[in-house]
Amino acid sequence: MLSKIVEETLRDYPGAPVDAQVFKDEIASARSHTLELIRRHLTEFGEYFPAETCVQGYYPLTDNVEWTTSFWTGQLWLAWEMSGDEPFRALAERHVRSFGLRIAGRSDTNTHDLGFLYTLSCVASWRLTGNRDARAFALLAAEVLLERFHHKAQIIQAWGDLRDPEQAGRMIIDCNMNLPLLYWATEQTGDRRFADAAQAHVRQAAKYLIREDASTFHTYYMDIDTGAPRYGNTQQGYADDSCWSRGQAWGIYGFLLSFIYTGDRQMVALSKRLANYFLNRLPEDAVCHWDLALVGTDALRDSSSAAIAVCGLLELVKHLPVTDPDRERYQQWAMRIMSSLNKHYLAGKNEATNGLLKHSVYHLASNKGVDECCSWGDYFYVEALMRFSQSWKLYW
Ligand code: GLY
Repeated sequence: MLSKIVEETLRDYPGAPVDAQVFKDEIASARSHTLELIRRHLTEFGEYFPAETCVQGYYPLTDNVEWTTSFWTGQLWLAWEMSGDEPFRALAERHVRSFGLRIAGRSDTNTHDLGFLYTLSCVASWRLTGNRDARAFALLAAEVLLERFHHKAQIIQAWGDLRDPEQAGRMIIDCNMNLPLLYWATEQTGDRRFADAAQAHVRQAAKYLIREDASTFHTYYMDIDTGAPRYGNTQQGYADDSCWSRGQAWGIYGFLLSFIYTGDRQMVALSKRLANYFLNRLPEDAVCHWDLALVGTDALRDSSSAAIAVCGLLELVKHLPVTDPDRERYQQWAMRIMSSLNKHYLAGKNEATNGLLKHSVYHLASNKGVDECCSWGDYFYVEALMRFSQSWKLYW
């Protein structure tokens, strides 16, 4: 099995290195501009949440439904940490109550995305302010997430009813980002069930979602009755055997999040392999196409994958020894991608949008969120800004 593994050597970024001082100034200016935009969105969104993506430049406003509402709450926490401005915190705390009602009423909670939802809202609140209600809501969400664990298959099912023939036993690469909620629940309670499930899942993800060349399947089906592996395919990528850019970015970052809680260095090695595959397939402006198989074409970009990858790369750099030959290159790539996002993708003050990061693709095949801002792209862009501008303790 091992002999089939194809390792890619990370290519150098083309052109001159990003100048450290120029980059620092660029980040400082992007940070104050972004804070101003978030301040404006706070007034505009009020008690509502932005939908998953913009429609013709503007987020429709929703109640606390779907998988993405916490990306707005997460931006509020980041903005509060960056600025100390009380209105950001006050609104984030109101969101926490909304997340409490949502989990208590089990409203739209039939999804693995409880990790995204409760980490960036309630775990963040607990970590930053010690809000005990937020802690309780997040622990309840971890219990509900645990219900999605298939013992025979050793995976957390992504979507839908656990016996739905279309979805049963389907794991997806995105789920790596949902595992921190489970590890955190074990840390808080001492109850190993949460972390054991997360660890079992991430091992299956490493085994089946990553191909021999370090590209990834978006989704993979396991047999829930026998535990046997079935097949991989895609939901949002170009083809079953292509490499959906956002999946790869979720993988770069997500495997590291498991490393942080488990200390399993194999996760760092996997993150590196995925990063090399990703970085070796970037177009000239360093912001990926929506599927990595489409490099060299004029396919649309997915800026949200780029922002996720920047956060993943910066996390990766933290966990590599200074002697690692690629460490400096990961740092340079992260700066280069970020610089491109700052210059060409960040919404201007007077642009017709209430998003931050333009040009992402949610799901091309169903024409959802195509070439629009999306809520997770906005969140990870702000997280990347935070990581570049001050030392930051993860919410994950
Ligand atoms: N987790 C769904 C997506 O990345 O589109």
